[in-house]
Amino acid sequence: MTDPAEIAAANANPPVFDEAFRDKFAELIAWRRDVRRFKTDSVAPELIEQLLDLAQLAPSVGNSQPWRWISVDSAETRARIRANFLRCNEIAASAYQGERAALYAKLKLEGIDVAPRQFALFCDRTTAQGLGVGRQTMPEALDYSVVAMIETFWLAARTLGLGVGWVSILDPQAITTELDVPATWKFIAYLCVGWPVEHHVDPELVRHHWQDRTTAGRIVLSR
Ligand SMILES: Cc1cc2nc3c(=O)[nH]c(=O)nc-3n(C[C@H](O)[C@H](O)[C@H](O)COP(=O)(O)O)c2cc1C
Repeated sequence: MTDPAEIAAANANPPVFDEAFRDKFAELIAWRRDVRRFKTDSVAPELIEQLLDLAQLAPSVGNSQPWRWISVDSAETRARIRANFLRCNEIAASAYQGERAALYAKLKLEGIDVAPRQFALFCDRTTAQGLGVGRQTMPEALDYSVVAMIETFWLAARTLGLGVGWVSILDPQAITTELDVPATWKFIAYLCVGWPVEHHVDPELVRHHWQDRTTAGRIVLSR
């Protein structure tokens, strides 16, 4: 929304989020999943456009909107990214021993070979947008802004029934080179997007006995 009259009209009539909406919103949060198993069905470009528009409304330090999107479309580039994942995952796997190693080997940690849409997300660490507000002492606030945007995208995708899978088991330097982006763009995430094969209310890593949710992050200390 950019038209001043439209903005003024909207500001005069803010929406009311009622209990029914809150219940649905809680369900949305509970049912957002990291998805690694995708159908091969394509995703209408309009849906992606809709999500990209919504993602622009995410918070960012100084309103810097430092996220930079690369849609990874070619089979060759995807194959290189998957090879990057396989190399990194082999190294990651070697950090575990015994039963843990066997369990790790069974985990599915990406859907690069099937996901119909794939995006590499970067942070433009040199953007002038925002004029430096909020990032003088913590330049990494720019990176956090990209992550905040990703969560917005992730939830919005779920409202359309689309799944998002975040892949971080990648060599960021190799990704930057493979995708031919400026060296000043910091790699933040690789996202697989598509229609999920299955729906679960419990995270895959919980279901496969890798890591339960705990209460550590629920505790609030007081000072
Ligand atoms: C920063 C970040 C990096 C992640 N990297 C990976 C990854 O490389 N592979 C993977 O399968 N899941 C990855 N995930 C997904 C998490 O494993 C997942 O969010 C977590 O197990 C909880 O499951 P849920 O998202 O379905 O609730 C990542 C999530 C975040 C936030």
